[in-house]
Amino acid sequence: MCGIVGVIGKSAKEIVLNGLTNLEYRGYDSAGIYLNDLQGHQYLTKTVGRINNLKAKMLPDEEGLVGIGHTRWATHGKPTVNNAHPQFDQIKRFYMVHNGVIENYQELKEKYLKGVELQSNTDTEILVQLVSQIVQKKQVDPFTALKAALAEVRGSYAIILIDNLKPDHLFIAKNKSPLMLGLGKGFNLVASDSLSVLDQTKEFIDLQDGEVGDITKNHIHIEKLTGEKVTPKSYQLKIDPSQVSKGPYDFYMLKEICEQPNVLRRLTQLYLDENGNPQVDQQITSVLAQADHLYIFAAGTSYHAGLVGKLLFEHFAQIPTEVDFASEAGYHFPMLSQKPVFIFLSQSGETADSRVVLQEAIKRKIPSLTLTNVPNSTLAREASYAMALEAGPEIAVASTKAYTAQLAVEAVLAKAVGMKLQHKEAHDFDLRHELAIAAEGIEQIISAKAKIEQVANTYLLPSRNAFYIGRGIDYPLALEAALKLKEVSYIQTEGFAAAELKHGTISLIEQKTPVIALVNDPVTADLLRGNIQEVLARGANVIAIASEQLAHENDDVILPTVNYYLTPLISVVVAQLLAYYASKNKGLDVDKPRNLAKSVTVE
Ligand code: G6P
Repeated sequence: MCGIVGVIGKSAKEIVLNGLTNLEYRGYDSAGIYLNDLQGHQYLTKTVGRINNLKAKMLPDEEGLVGIGHTRWATHGKPTVNNAHPQFDQIKRFYMVHNGVIENYQELKEKYLKGVELQSNTDTEILVQLVSQIVQKKQVDPFTALKAALAEVRGSYAIILIDNLKPDHLFIAKNKSPLMLGLGKGFNLVASDSLSVLDQTKEFIDLQDGEVGDITKNHIHIEKLTGEKVTPKSYQLKIDPSQVSKGPYDFYMLKEICEQPNVLRRLTQLYLDENGNPQVDQQITSVLAQADHLYIFAAGTSYHAGLVGKLLFEHFAQIPTEVDFASEAGYHFPMLSQKPVFIFLSQSGETADSRVVLQEAIKRKIPSLTLTNVPNSTLAREASYAMALEAGPEIAVASTKAYTAQLAVEAVLAKAVGMKLQHKEAHDFDLRHELAIAAEGIEQIISAKAKIEQVANTYLLPSRNAFYIGRGIDYPLALEAALKLKEVSYIQTEGFAAAELKHGTISLIEQKTPVIALVNDPVTADLLRGNIQEVLARGANVIAIASEQLAHENDDVILPTVNYYLTPLISVVVAQLLAYYASKNKGLDVDKPRNLAKSVTVE
């Protein structure tokens, strides 16, 4: 989490501020910028809150030919001005921005920084003070000092360091947190994410773990912490800038919800041929087909996509599948079968919790596959195999189109593996056709969004809490729907297996408590209607979302018919729109809910 950006060799203020604005999805509780004009003037500005506050606080003549900036998601120390980055040392010679967590910062503080007066509660300040101590005591240059300091560090970091006695250099380092170099003519950039500086260059180098660099406006020197020189390879990022603009939409979240039909169509083109046969790397299909058990690891929305994946893999490929929170599995490894295969689901491909599990899988030589929206991300690079979600950049913090893309790619894989294993269910599953129907279904839902907005206004806006209930495939969907609503609208919402409500939680139902019932499972539809009656009898306001063939006359939203295993693709869109309107009409910042970050690179 946290976003960092640095520029050298070009007017830095605007580039840093724009870069930080684009990186706000990584955290946005405080921010800071350091500029140096290489003529003896330097400016440090830090604020609590958003980049707009930072812009407002800066004076017009503050400019630099080198600059670094940071947007923060607090880990160590509250979001205050002192805790905002850049952090600096006692003599105000070194300025550092950092994304990650220095795990042994207390130890470093006690060992090396006795007598140093600290200004903040951050782990980053410990590191910049340590660099400064090494430079002063050992009389070494800052790059050597940074490497010596990092040799003592345990944890994750993407770092940019400036020495104001040598301000025409940016010193950088990476371990576990993402960091890229953007290459320009007569200038260079450093950023957590290439999209943040896409208006400046399309040529990038991805730094690897354990690499450090000394960057000037015309020169890039990268080496490993072990001292070995690295010859980095650059690549051109092929991306259409309109993909990262908000277009006519008020918020990215709505734009991304509306993009979902096209995401499904794109995935169909990519992964299914004209006859509907899966076009998946043979090696991936073979490895999965040989597994006696699949283990899916993920966090947040991706975890919920994994729960639907379990149903798809078990039905179409008939391979038992377990889904675990990566954060739990990392330190309490599940008991494994004889021939396990691990699947990692991650929009960003950077989630630290998932990476811990992947590292363990690599150690144990367990084959792994990452499904991610960011093809050259850490989880994609480090797994044995990777498949792209092709959802296009997802900017809103609340994940929408990456979730539907994950479901679609899981369906493709389940079909491919099931066909390889010659299961009839997989052969008969006309996924190409079903995805086309699902894409149209989503379009129908989107065109009826005014009705969904009205439901949100009537039932959700006045309420402090809500429930989603569902059975069968609607249960994992209820979990995702509840997460969506709570994360953007702050209405406390729980997703429930409908029958479980009566085993305790029904005590929370009061007059007008909104209970959103999902009715897509033909096997349990009648039972679910019974569960609806139970909450109605206790005063709940029930909002029923039902597929056409299971719908009752007064249901609130009728969903177009799709294959049962693809119903989450459609129902989730209603849930996303309910969440969107509940948030927007409460006047909240839909794209950047409080306390959250999109890419969570700390454990
Ligand atoms: C964060 C985001 C969630 C996301 C989760 C997992 O918490 O706010 O929206 O679902 O991380 O992220 P990933 O990139 O691994 O899917």
